[in-house]
Order: sequence, then C-alpha cells, then structure tokens
Amino acid sequence: MGIATARRIDNWVRCCQCLLVAWSWQLSIAASSKWDHIMDFDQNYRLQWTSTGQDITFEIQSRTQGFVGLGFSRDGTLADSDIVVGWMDDGQTRFQDRHIRAGSDGEPIIDPSQDYTLQALYQNHTHTVMRFKRNLNTCDNKDDFPITNDTMRVIFMYSKHKPDRGSLVLPDPLEAFKGSRSVFLTQRTNQHPLANEAHINILELRNMDVELPESDESLYWCKIFKLDDFQQKHHLVRYEPVFDSSTSVLYLNHIILYECQGLSNELEMLSRRHGQPCFQLKAAHCNTVVANWARGSDGFSFPQEAGYPLDSHQATYYLLETHYNNPDYSYDFSSFYRKNLSKQQRNMNIHNGHDGEDGNRDDDDVDDDAGNNHDEPDDYRDDDGEPEAEQQVVDNSGLKLYYTQSLRNFDAGVLSVGIDPNWRHIIPPGQEKVVSEGHCIGACTQQSFPQEGINIFAVMTRTHLIGRQVKLRQIRGNEELQPIVHDTNVDPSYQDYRWLPAPVKALPGDSLIAECIYDSSSRKSITLGGMTTREEICLVLTLYYPRQQALTSCHSLPSLPTVLHSLGIQELASGSNPVEISSPPELAGMTLEKRLTSYDWANQFENFQYVTRLGSFKPMCWANQMLPGIEMESYVTNITRHWKPMNLCRSIQTNMISEPVHDGSEPNMIDMPAMDDHESTNLIDTELKAKVTPRPGGSTYSQGGNRPTSGRSSGVSGRQEMAALRTLLATAILATTSTVVIRLI
Ligand SMILES: *[C@@H]1O[C@H](CO)[C@@H](O)[C@H](O)[C@H]1NC(C)=O
Ligand SMILES: *[C@@H]1O[C@H](CO)[C@@H](O)[C@H](O)[C@H]1NC(C)=O
Ligand SMILES: *[C@@H]1O[C@H](CO)[C@@H](O)[C@H](O)[C@H]1NC(C)=O
Ligand SMILES: *[C@@H]1O[C@H](CO)[C@@H](O)[C@H](O)[C@H]1NC(C)=O
Repeated sequence: MGIATARRIDNWVRCCQCLLVAWSWQLSIAASSKWDHIMDFDQNYRLQWTSTGQDITFEIQSRTQGFVGLGFSRDGTLADSDIVVGWMDDGQTRFQDRHIRAGSDGEPIIDPSQDYTLQALYQNHTHTVMRFKRNLNTCDNKDDFPITNDTMRVIFMYSKHKPDRGSLVLPDPLEAFKGSRSVFLTQRTNQHPLANEAHINILELRNMDVELPESDESLYWCKIFKLDDFQQKHHLVRYEPVFDSSTSVLYLNHIILYECQGLSNELEMLSRRHGQPCFQLKAAHCNTVVANWARGSDGFSFPQEAGYPLDSHQATYYLLETHYNNPDYSYDFSSFYRKNLSKQQRNMNIHNGHDGEDGNRDDDDVDDDAGNNHDEPDDYRDDDGEPEAEQQVVDNSGLKLYYTQSLRNFDAGVLSVGIDPNWRHIIPPGQEKVVSEGHCIGACTQQSFPQEGINIFAVMTRTHLIGRQVKLRQIRGNEELQPIVHDTNVDPSYQDYRWLPAPVKALPGDSLIAECIYDSSSRKSITLGGMTTREEICLVLTLYYPRQQALTSCHSLPSLPTVLHSLGIQELASGSNPVEISSPPELAGMTLEKRLTSYDWANQFENFQYVTRLGSFKPMCWANQMLPGIEMESYVTNITRHWKPMNLCRSIQTNMISEPVHDGSEPNMIDMPAMDDHESTNLIDTELKAKVTPRPGGSTYSQGGNRPTSGRSSGVSGRQEMAALRTLLATAILATTSTVVIRLI
C-alpha cells in the first residue's frame, strides 16, 4: 500500500462524519464527441460506435502500425466468428469482411459476400484508425454475425504485423486476437454532456476501506448512507462509477444503490458505521434499486422527461451494495465455450476482458472437464503472472450521482418483475434448457399503475451463473405484444440497464412475464432459487415514469401444489417426519428427500417442465406491504394472439438462406393447446387444497378468462411446508459438493 493510499484512508477517517461529499459542477466536459459510445478494450484499443435502428458505424483506434480488426461470435471465441480486418498497404487501404470456422486452424477467410463498408482508414505515427459501417443484420447468415439487442461478445484484434505488400494473408492472426468483451452495442445510454441543465450537483457515495477478498469467496459489502440534506426534492439524472484505483476495477463486479424505507434507529446506527458484509444486514428494508453499475458499463443517464427523486422527507437512508470478486478466481464465462480451438486460441481467451497473462494454466484441464463444473470459478492462481505494482488491500470505490434541483416532468421509479428468490424455484440438473417464469399478474398492475400507464425506459435482466436467455413478455388482454426486452445470449457477469430509446407503455391490467432460460447441463444436483451465486434468480428490473408507490416488486412463486406435482407427487402424508409421500401409490412411503435425489430427470424432465409452466402460482405483489385483495393463487393467461418477430432478411435477400441465426426460440410450451393433463393438475391441486382451511371471504377470481380458482388458498399447512422446505434445503446441501450458503428468505 503506497503513501497515497494511506493518505486517502486518513482523509476518509477525517471525513468520516461527512459522508456526503457534494460540490457544484461546472459544465466543462470536453467537447461533445460525435460518437455515442466509447469503450477502451485495453490500453491499445479503443472502439467508438453509433447505431441508428438499421446500421452501425464503428471506429477502431489502435496503437499499432500493423493490421486491426473487430469481430463477433456467440461465445466470444474465434469459433464461427465474423471478423472485419484492415491495414495500410504502402498507402493503399486494405479492408475485408472475413470469418473463422469452428474447428479450423483459425485462419480468417474472406467472405464471398462483403457486408462492411469502409469509411476511413489512416495512420499517424502511433495509431491506426479504421472507420466502417454495416447493417445490424447483414442477412449473410453463413458468414456474418447479426448485431442484435442481445449481449454481444465483441472480439478485438490488433497486430504489430501486417501482410506482405500486395498480399492478403494475415501474419499470425491468432496473435492479433487479444480477447473479447460482453457489451450491449444497442440499447445503451450515451454519456454525452448533460444539456439544458441549469445546475448540476455531484454527490459521491463511496465505500471506506473495504478489505478486498483474498480467497475465492465473493464479498458483498453493504454500507448505509444517510442523506438528510435534500430538504426539497431533487432529481437524480445520471450516475457513474468512481474507481479507487485500477486494482479496484478488477475486483468490482457490481455496485447497487438501494433506497431504504423508514427511519429506524437501526438505520441511523448503521449509517454511522463504515459498513459490513451484506448478510449481516437482514433487518434493513432497503429494496428499491436507485442506481446500478455493472462491470463493463460507463454509467447511466435518465431520459429528459424523468429523474429519480431524491428527497430526504421521503427517504433518508440509502444502502450501497458492492460486489467484489477476487479476479484470480473470477468466473470466466468464455470457458463454457472453449471447444475445438487450438491451445493458443484457448489461452488467449482465458482472461476474457482482463489484460493478465495466462502462463501456467494446465491445458489438459480444459480438455478433461468437458461436461462438468464449467460454471465453477477457475480455481487457479497465476503465480508467474505480472506482479502487482502495489498490493492494494482496501477499496474506496462507489458511485457518483449527478442531481439537480430543476425538476424534470416526472419522477422515475423501479419495478422488479420475476420469480421471488425462493427455494420453490427449482432448476433440475443436467438440462440444456430449463424455462422458469415469474408472473406480474394483471390484477396487480390494474390496482397500481396510473390510468395512462407507465413508460418503461430501461430494463435490466438478472440471473446467476447458469442463466442463458431472458425475456420480459407483455400481455394485454389475450394478446402478447412485442417483448419489452429479449436477450438470447445473456452473460451472467455483465448485468446492466438496457436503454429503450422509445419508452414502452404498460397499462393497468397488462400482465408481464419474466421468462428465464437456464442451462444446467454442467450441474449434477438441483439448483434452487435464492440470492447466493450458486442459487439462481430470474428477475427483470424496469425503470419507468411516472412513479407509483403501490407496487415496487411484482413477483410470483410456483405454488406448493405445483412444486409437488412437478415432482410427480400427489399428496404428502400429513404429520410425517421426515415428510413422506402418501400418493401416488408407487411413491407412497418415500421421503420427499428421496424423491428429489432419485427423480429421473433424464426421462421425466419434460413432465416437470410442463407442470411448472402450467401449474398455479402465487402472485407476490408488494411495495412497503403486500398489495391487498390479490388472490393467493393464479394461473397463466390464455394467450390467443401471439407476437411474431419479423424476418427482415426473407424480404430483402431471397437468394440467401433466411433462417434466423441465433433466434433461440423454440415452440413455446405455453402456446400449446390445453391438454387433458390440465384436469389432472386441478385434481391434484384440489387434493392438496383439501388440507387447507378455506380462505376467509374466499371469493372467486378469474384472470383473463382463465378457469376460476376454488376460492381456497394454495399450499399445504405452514408446518408441513416448513418441513418440506427443510428437506429440500437439506437435500440441496447434501447434493452439492462445494460449500453452499443457503439463505432462507
Ligand atoms: C469438435 O470436435 C468434435 C470431434 O472432433 C466434433 O464432433 C465437433 O463437431 C466439433 N465441434 C465444433 C464446434 O467444431
Ligand atoms: C494519432 O491518432 C490517434 C487516434 O486518433 C490520436 O489519439 C493521437 O493523438 C494521434 N497522434 C498524433 C501524434 O497525432
Ligand atoms: C431492439 O430493441 C428495440 C427497442 O429498444 C426494438 O425497437 C427493436 O425491434 C429490437 N430489435 C430486435 C431485432 O428485436
Ligand atoms: C383459451 O382460449 C381459446 C380461444 O379463445 C379457447 O378455445 C380455450 O378454451 C381457452 N383455454 C382456456 C384454458 O381457457
């Protein structure tokens, strides 16, 4: 730790009471760039880009006199990648659209169809600059990779060398491949200077000397801030990360600022401390996300119409949650996809997005572990790697908030849609595609949204390690509208707000469905819902205006009957301990635990999936309290008009193969005609419900023309549920080899 760090600590200690560092900010940012987005992939490679709805223009600025390139692929490796390269050849520009086939020797082959247009290519003494344009979807499905709203894996390339004069043969193309990054290329806010804002203030909320994790444990650090200076309402209009140092950058995974409810003594006490690991903070009610930063993002700006209200009369305490990971152990998404690449290609890609060296990784590992444990962190240390210049042990990073007293037209709010993080969200092991859905039912939006609806302008999808696709579906009446967000290639380590340039309206009565698709093929035991990294979540956070107060969390959970039925269980023996199955007869006497560990996922998965998707669920709609009058049990809406994506390429280029390349969509199980199985579902539910006392004043409720419910609450007794829960948790713990912390929610 250098003297500078020590002094900084000293400063922070002195500044301890004044957690709020605010000062006036002059609008003196450098002249606005003509590019919407700028990203430095490493110290030698900057990418700038701007996209219209149809095409995208890039500029590479690379510190080299050799050739430069940019590429895209499904997984961030060179396998089946779309590559564009260029260089100066004795005053002439050379520029080609190329591709690399999986399983090849890695030679970029020139595409028969050239779909990139060069706009400028020049050099000065230090840099090569290449500007070019392409259609988002070039419709060259053979050799190009479409640029979509998905999380893109962007490959960056540069080389000291260039082809011999007049030649098109790239010298050592694999050496030029420097790595890849997960990036939203579209649906991204720009950080152009704030216009028309009379007076912008800045507030930095920073951690104080958080000890960085030394082991592979992630650290979730929670610090409470007291902001009692906002005597009148202000609007938060932008935020950005503040990094303590370049070491911090490597450790930081995400930073979330939550607003806390109420004015408890506990919050006051906590706000005087310098923070604690988050698991020690259970009692604090800090649920509303105000700001979110994820690795790879440069911040967020609100639309002109709205700002997030900061008002000490409404909220005084804020929680800053910082997720640190030791970069030596950090999860490497691309390791999933190291397939048939050469040793050199694999090595290049191991430090995806980092600039470390990968000297001593045992390559045999990579080959041998096919099919298992791919989702566990790479458990190795790079002893031969570059020694850190200074061993930083503490961190003071945080968020920089830009706020103004000149209020915008609307307050912005955050609504979370998805599955309540809970053990009832079960993901079977060994499956390439498990679909889980969280429902925000029409009855909840009906009660809480203003008459004219809400305008959703940003969306963040959240899953943990095995999440692969997330969609936020919108249903109005019986019609499904265009999904509000759809990412068919999520990167669990890159979760950030996506910007919707035209806000999407959601009306009272609309239902929203967060649909998450997981790949559990690497797991040998079930995965349960929950907040730890090994558990899974399925959440979509939406930012919208105007803000309403009744609903901040619109979640659901599979009902207990659905959970049991999905495991082929019709009835539990009442009073048994451990919990035993009494029906169907072939399972009678078996413990629930045995059922879970012996369930034949390989052959019965489809049935499990079918039942979980069509079974009843429990809506969970709340802000500071549960929304009143919502039924305990609900069913999926009967959708009669579906949304179909347009296939642009079919009409444009008839001579091309026009299959959507990475659509990822398969027949939607919910779209299937209702089957007789429905009836048996109801029968089983009824049997389970028979154990339950009728709900007081049990009225019938039907949503979207669905079957009426029986007017009784779902689920078996609380005691039995707790027993089942214990068993499930015990099973999950037993079945897991690595240590797992399961938190009861
Ligand atoms: C990888 O190699 C195996 C066996 O050599 C082959 O069957 C498979 O198709 C290859 N995969 C890819 C993505 O090239
Ligand atoms: C060369 O070009 C790069 C990229 O445009 C620029 O940053 C750099 O300042 C230029 N260097 C000189 C010496 O002009
Ligand atoms: C991408 O998102 C925008 C809205 O942000 C939408 O208009 C567009 O249709 C989406 N593109 C695709 C290919 O889904
Ligand atoms: C769903 O709607 C279709 C068309 O209106 C109808 O035929 C079908 O019976 C409905 N199914 C359910 C379960 O309500």
